[in-house]
Amino acid sequence: MLTLWSVRVPSLLFLFSWIFASWQDTPASCVSNSRDLVSLAKCLDTFTILPKYYDEPSYHDAQPTDSEREAWTTAVASLLSVDGNCTSLAVPPELEGTYVIRRFVPPGLPTSYCILVENSADCNGMPRGWGHLVVPEKREQVSRFLHVSAPHPKYDLGTIEQATVLFELSGAKSLLFAGRTRGAFMQSSTCVQASNPYWKTDPAHNNLEPFFDAFVAIYQWQQQQGGCYSKSCAFIQVHGKGGTTCPLDQIFLSTGLGNDPWYTDPTDYPVKRLKTSLKQIFPTWNISLPSDSKCPLVASGNIGGRYINSVPKSKVCLRPAIPHQVKGEFIHIEQAIESRKSDVYEAWGKAVRETFEPVCAPGMAVHPRKPLCVDGVVAEEARAWPWGYLHSRQGLLF
Ligand SMILES: *[C@@H]1O[C@H](CO)[C@@H](O)[C@H](O)[C@H]1NC(C)=O
Ligand SMILES: *[C@@H]1O[C@H](CO)[C@@H](O)[C@H](O)[C@H]1NC(C)=O
Repeated sequence: MLTLWSVRVPSLLFLFSWIFASWQDTPASCVSNSRDLVSLAKCLDTFTILPKYYDEPSYHDAQPTDSEREAWTTAVASLLSVDGNCTSLAVPPELEGTYVIRRFVPPGLPTSYCILVENSADCNGMPRGWGHLVVPEKREQVSRFLHVSAPHPKYDLGTIEQATVLFELSGAKSLLFAGRTRGAFMQSSTCVQASNPYWKTDPAHNNLEPFFDAFVAIYQWQQQQGGCYSKSCAFIQVHGKGGTTCPLDQIFLSTGLGNDPWYTDPTDYPVKRLKTSLKQIFPTWNISLPSDSKCPLVASGNIGGRYINSVPKSKVCLRPAIPHQVKGEFIHIEQAIESRKSDVYEAWGKAVRETFEPVCAPGMAVHPRKPLCVDGVVAEEARAWPWGYLHSRQGLLF
């Protein structure tokens, strides 16, 4: 009897919550149900479209129309311009019923975010899956113009959470998630072609995935801010590799170029600086660039990388980047599982903070111990009272 209960009750509960979830919830419900940014990211990921979900008609229905695609790009750009006015922002009319902009204030934390999140479950109870974008609600929360993205949920395990943590710990500007697994529609992408074909729903290799439109909008927004200042700005994409792929590298960084003298010449570029910082922080790991390792995961076919590396948007499917046009702003991180685990989050945060200088909003200043932008008075106090950590901590943003 007892055993029956313990087996049956949970499975009934599971069935119940599953039915409930599929009728009631959309990714937007995560905003009111999450206690912090990582739990929000995990909640959003429960809506990620799973492998083999689509056939031709359902993929067609889920894809944006031309006007929806344009509106999606506009919504991404307006989210990036938010500065304390999240609640006055709305998505363009074409997206009403599909996406909303929501303010997220983690209970008990001094931070707030503005999120472009899907509120539709029109595709047989599933979202359309274009992805989600998170930005700090105020400019003063931003310490570095870093744009973090995770294109391969479910396949590259732990990258949704890791991207979120890197965004938080570095005081980054934007956080972009894909809304579909790369295998959601297992038909070959006609964009980037390879002997082992990429799938249509792989946003790193198909320019028709809305994730790519968002990626482009983020880059263009950064250009409008005067460009990507190498000391404080980059586009960081996190990936995870299986244990048998490039097993000698715990972290393999690339800028989207294969092994090329670009990596070894003395010019200072973000991807090279990150390697140096990571090497100091993880001295026992192999942290490689394509010039250090035979690992083939160089991301030369990554369309977001190609675009950042000066390939015109209309050519990203066909044309690889040209080394002399590359500024190392695109940082493609391939990693073994140990590099994605929560016990190295803090170390990773430190490496990113050391790689990129803070650029604070007016009235803010760099905290002397944890280089993030905090209220100017708090920073001054921390400098004057180096032992008064507990006191000044109240004012820390993170
Ligand atoms: C929000 O504020 C920013 C910065 O002041 C401004 O550029 C943007 O246009 C505002 N957006 C809305 C919808 O008011
Ligand atoms: C690092 O790479 C070398 C070969 O270059 C290998 O012998 C060593 O085992 C690797 N270390 C780790 C921790 O994987």
